[in-house]
Parts: sequence; C-alpha cells; structure tokens
Amino acid sequence: MLRELGARVQIPPVAFFFFYSFAVFILLFFILAESSLELVPKEIRKHSQIRKACVKKGIKPEKEILDASYHYNAIKELCFAEKRGRPDIVHVCLLFLQDSLVNREGKLRVFIHTLNNRVIHVKPDVRIPKHFDRFIGLMRQLLRVGRVPLKGEPLLFVEEKSIKDLIRDLKPEATIGFSTEGRVITDLISFFKGFGANKDLAAVVGGFPHGEFSPETVEVFDDTISVSRYSLNAWTVASIILNCYYYALIV
Ligand SMILES: C[S@@+](CC[C@H](N)C(=O)[O-])C[C@H]1O[C@@H](n2cnc3c(N)ncnc32)[C@H](O)[C@@H]1O
Repeated sequence: MLRELGARVQIPPVAFFFFYSFAVFILLFFILAESSLELVPKEIRKHSQIRKACVKKGIKPEKEILDASYHYNAIKELCFAEKRGRPDIVHVCLLFLQDSLVNREGKLRVFIHTLNNRVIHVKPDVRIPKHFDRFIGLMRQLLRVGRVPLKGEPLLFVEEKSIKDLIRDLKPEATIGFSTEGRVITDLISFFKGFGANKDLAAVVGGFPHGEFSPETVEVFDDTISVSRYSLNAWTVASIILNCYYYALIV
C-alpha cells in the first residue's frame, strides 16, 4: 500500500510499557483494521481537486486528511480506491468505543490499524472530540507528528506496524475476525461466554467502507464470524460486539 510517512516522533519502548503496564485485567482488544484514515498521499497532492480543496481550507495538501467528501475524483486515481478517504468511520467508531461499558469497566484496548500499516494506540481514558472538524484537526497532528499531545504522556500515538505484528505483540488467546464472509453466529453472548472470562480476546472489524479484508489481515484470524445476514457499518458491528461481550463476560 501507499505510504504517507510525514515527520514522526519515535515512541520509545518504555512509553509503550507505561501505556499498557496497568493492563492487569483480562482485556478485549478491539482492532479497527485497514482503516480508511491517512494523510493525502504524494501521488495525488497536485491533483486539481486536492489543490482547490486545500486552498479553500488554507492547509497544505501534505498536512490534510484524505476525505472522499472533498477528494472523490482524486481518490479514484489511487489503488484500493473503494477503501479510502473515510475518516468518519474511525471517528464514529472511536466515539462509541471510548464511551462503551466495556471501556468504562477498564477492559477495552482500542487500536486503529490503517490501510498503510500504521497502528494508532488509543489510551482508554482519551476523550475523542465529538465535532468532526476537531477530530480531523487532531488526526492531522497525530498522523504527521506521531503522537498527541506533543509532550508528556501520549494519549494517542502511532507506530508503523502490520496487523500481524500487532497481534504478535498483544498475544490474545483468540483473534476473531468479523466479516459477512464468516460463519453466522446469532447468539454472540453465548459465543463469548464459550471463551470464559480469563482470556484476552481480539476482535477485528474493518474500518473501510467497501471491499473485503486483505489476505494479510485474514491470516491473523483464528475464527471468522458474521453477526447478521446484512452488510453492516463498522460502528454497528462494534456496538454488537461490545454489548455482547459486556453481557457475556463482565456483568
Ligand atoms: C462496511 S463493512 C465493509 C464492507 C464489506 N463488504 C462487508 O460488509 O463486510 C465494514 C466492516 O464491518 C464488518 N461487518 C459488516 N457486516 C458484517 C456482518 N454481517 N457480520 C460481521 N461483520 C460485519 C466487517 O468487519 C467489515 O469489514
């Protein structure tokens, strides 16, 4: 995939340790995979639609978040175009995940894996801006600089990492992929109960609008589950997973 690297601040391993050292509980790792969140990639920065949209906003193309609402024609020139330019998916999912009961109980860790193999680590108590424009402002800084805030303990930080390496580091007991292609499970509460309350699990949901998971993502799944006969939005699937997990293993 294409990469927009920008200026980065490296997060030392010690910061990673502090970020997760309090994780003494059994956790649900929620991974929004191949998420449609990136800076405008180099190959379309000179596209007339990008230039016009950026002039209007008074921002340089290399600092702007790719968004199909403004950059639709330019995105058509990129590979995997159908999966790109939807930062709103990450926004809505994060608003829901951070406010969920599982997170309030301290048992959720959220990771935003992006289409260009970057992983955003989200601290459990970070408050996501409700207004989309403010969220985009935050993402512009995060994707360029690599962390928010710039100094002190990071609330959000970015690593260059594949989903395979993320799963290897987290070491969940099982990694469950959620997809319309999976085996249908209508009683997700019983499904989660089957794992028992003493094992870390990873739930992987696609953070893209159309298309399927790449083979590299599918490779990390121990099981693939469909929760409905409908193709749902990522945030709807996230709410089903989080609510079923809560009633199965926390209440
Ligand atoms: C908008 S969908 C992506 C489109 C894709 N063709 C699909 O429906 O699976 C975003 C994500 O939601 C999840 N999803 C959507 N419908 C689902 C279902 N019925 N069961 C399980 N996961 C689902 C998948 O993780 C998917 O990658």
